[in-house]
Parts: sequence; C-alpha cells; structure tokens
Amino acid sequence: MKRKILVTSALPYANGAIHLGHLVEYIQTDIWVRFQKMRGHTCHYVCADDTHGTPIMLRAEKEGISPEALIERVHGEHLRDFTGFHVGFDNYYSTNSEENRQYAYRIYNALKENGKIVSRTISQLYDPVKHMFLPDRFVKGECPKCAAKDQYGDNCEVCGTTYSPTELKNPYSAVSGATPVLKDSEHYFFKLGECEDFLRGWTRGSATVAGEARARLQEGAANKMQEWFEAGLTDWDISRDAPYFGFEIPDAPGKYFYVWLDAPVGYMASHRNLCDRLGLDFDSYWNKDSDAELYHFIGKDILYFHALFWPAMLEYSGFRTPTGINAHGFLTVDGAKMSKSRGTFITAESYLRHLNPEWLRYYFAAKLNSAIEDIDLNLEDFAARVNSDLVGKYINIASRAAGFITKRFGGQLASDLGSAAVIGRLQAASEGVAAHYEAREFGRALRDVMALADEVNQFVDAHKPWEMAKQEGRDAELQRVCSVLINAFRLLTIYLKPVLPSLAADVEAFLNVAPLQWQDSQSLLLGHTINTYNHLMTRIDPKAIEAMIEENKQSLAPATAEPTAPALDYEVPPIAETISIDDFMKIDLRVAKIVEARAVEGADKLVSLTLDIGTETRHVFAGIKSAYKPEELQGRLTVMVANLAPRKMKFGMSEGMVLAAGGDGGLYILNPDSGAKPGMRVK
Ligand code: MSP
Ligand code: ZN
Repeated sequence: MKRKILVTSALPYANGAIHLGHLVEYIQTDIWVRFQKMRGHTCHYVCADDTHGTPIMLRAEKEGISPEALIERVHGEHLRDFTGFHVGFDNYYSTNSEENRQYAYRIYNALKENGKIVSRTISQLYDPVKHMFLPDRFVKGECPKCAAKDQYGDNCEVCGTTYSPTELKNPYSAVSGATPVLKDSEHYFFKLGECEDFLRGWTRGSATVAGEARARLQEGAANKMQEWFEAGLTDWDISRDAPYFGFEIPDAPGKYFYVWLDAPVGYMASHRNLCDRLGLDFDSYWNKDSDAELYHFIGKDILYFHALFWPAMLEYSGFRTPTGINAHGFLTVDGAKMSKSRGTFITAESYLRHLNPEWLRYYFAAKLNSAIEDIDLNLEDFAARVNSDLVGKYINIASRAAGFITKRFGGQLASDLGSAAVIGRLQAASEGVAAHYEAREFGRALRDVMALADEVNQFVDAHKPWEMAKQEGRDAELQRVCSVLINAFRLLTIYLKPVLPSLAADVEAFLNVAPLQWQDSQSLLLGHTINTYNHLMTRIDPKAIEAMIEENKQSLAPATAEPTAPALDYEVPPIAETISIDDFMKIDLRVAKIVEARAVEGADKLVSLTLDIGTETRHVFAGIKSAYKPEELQGRLTVMVANLAPRKMKFGMSEGMVLAAGGDGGLYILNPDSGAKPGMRVK
C-alpha cells in the first residue's frame, strides 16, 4: 500500500548558526524520510526558517541591517549547512512569506469566529528608553528568592526558581539598561482552557497508519501532557505590541502575532509553496478528512507548542491534526552540555571543514531510538565506532572483493552464487530492519545491519579469496566468492542508504546500478558488470577532531568565554551596586584640557588645575600631587565631572573633579584618545 506522508522538522530561528545539537533533529528526520522514499511511499519533507520575534529584530538592529536582510542571509547559511549534511528537504522556506501570512490569518480568523479568541488589558514591563515592551528574557535583575544578580525575568539560573519578571528586584532592561516601568496594553488570547476536552482525547487517541492504530505521542510526551492538564491549561497570549518583527494582526493595528503563533503555520506555508511548485493537491493533506499522514519531528523543549497549542489551533480552525509528534532529547558532547569555552559548541560549518558528514549521520543514527532521551556525542567513541563499523566491517567487504572481479574477470560477476547461506540471511533481514527504521529505532536497525556485516566478514575469513587467487584452477570458485561479497555489500548498502545517502550514491556508481530502492534487497546482481573500485570512505583521524575542537575554542572563545580569575598583585575592590543607564547619564563627563597646573602652598597632596572645557574654564583642586609634578600636567587632556556641585575648600572653590584610576597600585589620571577636543561629552 502506497502511503502519503508529510514530514517536518522544527523551524530553526533565523538568528543563529546551525550547530551539532540542531543536527540531531534534522539528521533523524532526514533518515526517516529517506527510508520512506526508498519504500516507495510518497513522502515530502518540508522546513523553513523561523524568522519573527524580538531577538531577530534586535539582532538585525545590532548588525545595522534590516530584519529582512538578516533573515535572507541566514536562510542561505542554514540551507548551505543542511545541504552539507545531506539533509534533503523537498522545500526549505521562510515564515516571513505570503503563504504564511495567508494561513496565519486564516487560522486566526477561524479561531475568532469559533469564539476562541479574547482580548483583555494586561500590565507588562516596558522599557521607557527603548520604547518597547520587554519579553521575559529581556528583563534582568536580582532573583527574588536567592538575590543572585543578573538573572532573567522568567527563572533564576542559580537557584532554579521560576517567577514573573515583575518579581525581580532592581530590574533592568537587557536592551537599554533602563529601569522598566509597568505599562498597560491590550492583548489577544487563545482560549486554550476551552480546548481541554479535545486535547485530552487527542493526546490519548491514536491515528490509523497503514491499517494499524498508532499512538500520536510517545509515552514520555503523553505523561508530560498529563502533568500539564493537572496543572491546568491557561489562555495563551498570542499578541505582541509594536515594535515587533512579524505579522500585524488583522483589525488590530500596532498588534502583532507572537512568533509562536505563526511559526508552526510555517509548516503549512512551506508545504503550500512546494505544492504550488509541483502541482500537488495541498488541501488533500490538510483537510479534516485527509488520507495523508502528518508528522512533526521536534526537540523535547518545544513539546508544549506542538502537542497543545498546535493541535488545538488546527482543530478549531477546521484543519486536520498531526498523525504523530516525534520528540527527541538533547545532544551533549563528552557527557556535558555543549560549551563554547571547551570548544564543544560545534557549528555545522566548522564540522564540515574538518570531518565527513556521513560519519556524524552514522554515529547519531547508531545512538537514536524512538524515546525522548538525550544523546551523547563522545568524541573518542565516535572515532572508534565509525572506524570499526563503517570502514572496518562494511567498506572493507567491497575493497577485498572488487580487485579480483576487476582484474581477473573483467568486472563481471558470477551468474550463479552457489549456495551462500549468508546471502539468504541478508535478504531475509529486510523487513526486520525496515520495521526498526519505521519505528525510529535507528540504533537497532544499525545493530542488525552490523551483525549481518560480521557474518559476511566471517564468510570472507572462511573462504580466504586471497589464497584461492594464488591457486591453480580455482577461478570459478574465486569469482563466485567475490560475487557473493559484492552482492552482500550491495544488500548492506540498501539497508544503510537512509543513513549514508552520499556514500550509497558512490556505491551505485561503482556497482553500475540505478538508485537502490528497499525492494531491491529481494533481487541479486548476477552476471552483471561492475566498475573499478575507488576507495569509498577513509577512517577518522583523531587529529581532525582535535583541530575542530581547537577551532571552535578559538573562534568563539574571546566573546563568550566563561570568566576566569587571573592572579593579581594588587587589590580589586568589589563592583558597586548596579545602576541604571539613567543614573549614569546624570553624570556629565567632559574632555578637559589642563591649561595651567600649580602646586598649592600649604597643601602637600593638592594640585591646582585650570581646565578648558570648550565653552568655559574651570578651577579644580585635585589630590594627585603624590603621582604628578605640576609641570608634567600642563597641556594634557583629561576627563572631568562637569556637573558636580562646586565645593568650598580651605584654599578656594573647586568647580568639578578630574578622573583618575587608583588604589594601592598608584594613581593615574585619565587620558582620552588623541583627537578628542575640550568640551566633548564622555559617555
Ligand atoms: N524556532 C523554534 C521552533 C519552531 S517550530 C514551529 C526553535 N528553534 S531552534 O533553532 O531553537 O531549535 C530548532 C530545533 O532544534 C528544535 O526542535 C530544538 O529542540 C532542536 N535543538 C536545538 N538545540 C538542540 C540540542 N542541543 N540538542 C538536540 N536538539 C536541539 O525552537
Ligand atoms: Zn535564585
């Protein structure tokens, strides 16, 4: 039976590079899709960049470009990286597209007609300098529980408490540093609470796939849903105020859809765009009575959006709901969270500069199963496993047999393989391996395939073709044994092709055959002429891994390294209490030219300075005589506090203060860089 399948991976944010953590998901999805295509099903794999929201808007601003320019550049980078890892999307689109706007509006309007949208006024933190409402992650301050400084507005990374941004002590805007104020605004909400009955049923329900009932959610996900139901479903805030990069809400000027409202709609938009290009029937995939299967591959961190909001949005706007949500865990490297300072926050781009993408595809596949479990990239194990499995067990089969076929038999395989039991076992394994792929038990699939490769290698050792080749009169036998090996290699290649698509293409060229399909495992190559063997895959050199780690340390460390405490031979006092930018701006600092410097009679610490600050002259007493002779100061530029209240001293009025660094290590007056002019403001 031919199935109709639509598959998605989560849409990566358009403000960062693809890294190996992301690739767990895209490689997992791609393997599953390639498998379905090899089985002869109609299967489309669509994705897009997730382009809206505050972080992308601010990132573009910081780079001094428009959000459109940023997302266009990142789209190119993402697609380049995915292509480098052989992730074969049928369409890679953007949420900032007309199709997405159209479907977001359609869904929103339908939800509104169904009474699922309400509006009410809420009070939120607002940045009075930047004139924008602040998302939780853009408010920082002291944790209300443990008083740790510089914590985000949603939870404390030190003690783990979650809270709302208004509970932070001494809050400040991470955008401008200003103290946020509370401000009212009208927001639109999706009434998720009203969808509870539907969602409870949907969660526990199953979908019919190829005539069998299949759970929509993995066990771990279903349990999580249960917890969420027990905690109670609250209305979901789907609007944001300008300035915001996104879609303006119809009939609500100045209000925009929250990025997570239009992000999953991006799956539809990308598919719509593909359908228009290929002349496919979009509605037959998305109608309520659709006969197509729809799967979303996601990370465990975005389950809430995909298992609650998204099915509810679809249900109440007249579309079908997903057949299944396939969540995976997170990637760790050498047992720890990816780290920029350790060089294990590895970008796709830098991996590709040093290593073969199919090594990583194989390693991830070997570790992946259908559960929501984290997976670890252990770099030593990675090299060992790829070298022993892929090169040692699999590739070697071809390299040991091909030379004899080419040199002794003109490239021609035997027309009869005799009674090689190993071939029968390889062919019989086809459906078992397929079942593992279908169930996303890639680790099991590969274990089975490698066990078969072991059998083939035992066959080689038992028959020793290299000895046959030296003996008179054993030509037919040699040709038969090598033909068994080439056929075994072909069968293993079929089973590995979802994981190793580029290598499989090279094998197809070597074997001189059309692209291998799953069904080809039930036939053999007999009397067929193959091409000359060229080496198909090299071993991993651990030095290449080291170089990659080094490169990621070097390129990323300076900006983001975790601070280390250097050994100091002078004392550094603790940093003072945080102030807002407003507090700081109250201090008027000016570049000042010391036009005259004199010792003060009767004062052994003071120097009397006459300062030119452009439009006026100031007279200041500075306690710097221990460090400077008056004549050294004459003519120099320095920095002064120009709006300090004048102070009457024993020797006269002091009209400001000159800035100097100091402590127990000496005293140093500040010097602006050359080019600064008297009176310029310092800030
Ligand atoms: N833009 C949202 C998804 C919107 S889907 C309508 C998003 N983007 S993301 O770039 O942060 O992540 C994209 C996918 O990569 C997510 O499924 C996420 O779980 C996954 N991963 C990101 N880092 C990961 C690891 N370190 N390990 C495994 N998967 C990870 O979320
Ligand atoms: Zn805390």
